[in-house]
Amino acid sequence: MRQAGRYLPEYREIRKNVTSFLDLCFTPELAIEVTLQPIRRFAMDAAILFSDILVIPFALGQKVDFIEGTGPVLEPVRTVDDLRALSATAVHERLAPVYETVRGVAAELPGDVGLIGFAGAPWTVATYMVEGGTSRNFANVKRWAYAAPEEFGELVDVLVEATAEYLVGQVRAGARVIQLFDTWAGALHEDALIRWCLEPTIELARRVKAADPDVRVIAFPRGAATLYARYARAPEIDGLGIDHTVERAWAKAELQPHCAVQGNLDPIALLAGGDHMRRQAEAILDSFSDGPFVFNLGHGILPETPPDHVARLIDIVRGRDS
Ligand code: CP3
Repeated sequence: MRQAGRYLPEYREIRKNVTSFLDLCFTPELAIEVTLQPIRRFAMDAAILFSDILVIPFALGQKVDFIEGTGPVLEPVRTVDDLRALSATAVHERLAPVYETVRGVAAELPGDVGLIGFAGAPWTVATYMVEGGTSRNFANVKRWAYAAPEEFGELVDVLVEATAEYLVGQVRAGARVIQLFDTWAGALHEDALIRWCLEPTIELARRVKAADPDVRVIAFPRGAATLYARYARAPEIDGLGIDHTVERAWAKAELQPHCAVQGNLDPIALLAGGDHMRRQAEAILDSFSDGPFVFNLGHGILPETPPDHVARLIDIVRGRDS
């Protein structure tokens, strides 16, 4: 999940010199540097592009701010008029600095280190666009999706188009793997999850692969519970990020035969460190190491996480390699 970010002092040093977080995402020289920081410090096997899922609403013309202590704040899109005020004409131009970052990182990474590009899946991006930020119960966006699916479908279509363009731009610039973050998939019931999370994710994977069939796509439908199995069986999806609530034995039996599994250490286990972290990491390695597997957290790293715990965790995982 998030490797760069506020838990690293070298990130905070760069962050304090830029006024807005989006400026950091759109300044290739700085974004290249923060993408590489965790690789330099920990020699991970892959780097994840430094950007954010909310660059898409920004590129569509929505007002997006990141406010310290509050998180993202957007001017909500709640009506057909709001929706029609969005414009895809500037998407490519506004996102071009991110492609430059991908190119710059690809040029600097050692040949055996992967480069993961990413975007938010349409549902999760739509939750921020409609709610105007992080939400407790997603009442506005869910009501729109449930009561007026054709209108809401228009928003999702706009997001699929813009996101596909963005991802193909990343792939052309050198990303070899694409991850689609659907952080709020678990807010939806079964039928809605299939319609608004699974189907748009598959469509995006198809479009990425149409541009380059060798690119691998990882989906992360957080909270999807047993519906993870539907993702695993989709031929367009090569890997599945699983959150810490997914039972390991179930994932080994139901997901790993169909696709690579990525996960699923609870980020708070990394924050806590010590024996608890070691035992959890070992249990995950015991469960998944004999199939296609990427060791990872089940969700993003917390800013309070001591970098020493990350170093210790990497030693535990690497210790298994040899
Ligand atoms: O390793 C990386 O840092 C990769 C880049 C990355 C960021 N965000 C940078 C970031 C990635 C992959 C994301 C994904 C992202 N962004 C998701 C999906 C994954 C997840 O964590 O659920 C979501 C939902 C977002 C939206 C978002 N961006 C939120 C809710 C916030 C605020 C978080 C908070 O606690 O305040 C952000 C800001 C953000 N994105 C930061 C970083 C490093 C922190 C910004 C800062 O430095 O002030």
